[in-house]
Amino acid sequence: MAANSVPRTAVAAWDKRWASEEGRADWLDPEPEIRALVPILRARGARAALDLGCGVGRHALFLAAEGFAVEAIDGSPVGIAEAGKAAAARGLTLGLREGSADALPFADAAFDYVLSWNVIYHGNQGDTARRLAEIWRVLKPGGLYQGTMLPTRNSNYGIGRRVAPDTFVNDASEERAHPHFYCDAGGLVALFAGFELLSLAQREHKQPGSWHWHIVAERRVA
Ligand SMILES: C[S@@+](CC[C@H](N)C(=O)[O-])C[C@H]1O[C@@H](n2cnc3c(N)ncnc32)[C@H](O)[C@@H]1O
Repeated sequence: MAANSVPRTAVAAWDKRWASEEGRADWLDPEPEIRALVPILRARGARAALDLGCGVGRHALFLAAEGFAVEAIDGSPVGIAEAGKAAAARGLTLGLREGSADALPFADAAFDYVLSWNVIYHGNQGDTARRLAEIWRVLKPGGLYQGTMLPTRNSNYGIGRRVAPDTFVNDASEERAHPHFYCDAGGLVALFAGFELLSLAQREHKQPGSWHWHIVAERRVA
């Protein structure tokens, strides 16, 4: 990809961003809500964790430092390489691999906790549903999922070309030149049919109007 070309997939866009120190700068500190879940994970006896779409590894590194056995996967080779460098610098052990959220290279019921922060909505509804099915498959029954989705209230909803229901591509924005899927509460509940939703809230991220669903959900036991 030429340095100044507009990336057309989420992974290409993030690969480009992860290559610069400036691009990585905002993605190095763990989110407070992920820190806050650690005592709950411990109380549930969780040990095996997956950071799906780990980026440059801020959460995978944090979880490994907290004593979890962490696997981390991302489609971006640059992200994986940066996470590997950071793990080595901190003396932390992580299972790191390049791969896709659409077909996870892990056994059924391998994890007590799957984290996927700002990842699974890069695509259309079908892509998001397939990734959630993969997350469900690799979680143990009763295991916890934590992650984000985009609500229709997000200020980018409806901007650009509609390429599928509730899915938009904005050619004028490097960050959104690939599809993003948005859903309302009803759509979200339907997508999480195999899970018990334990916590669901909308939070604004850095930009005004950048609302995200914040989700904690348990894989249903039966
Ligand atoms: C917004 S960044 C978030 C990174 C990390 N979760 C964090 O919070 O720091 C999204 C990441 O998801 C990865 N990603 C997006 N779609 C993916 C897919 N289908 N399979 C694997 N990785 C994907 C991108 O390469 C990127 O590193």
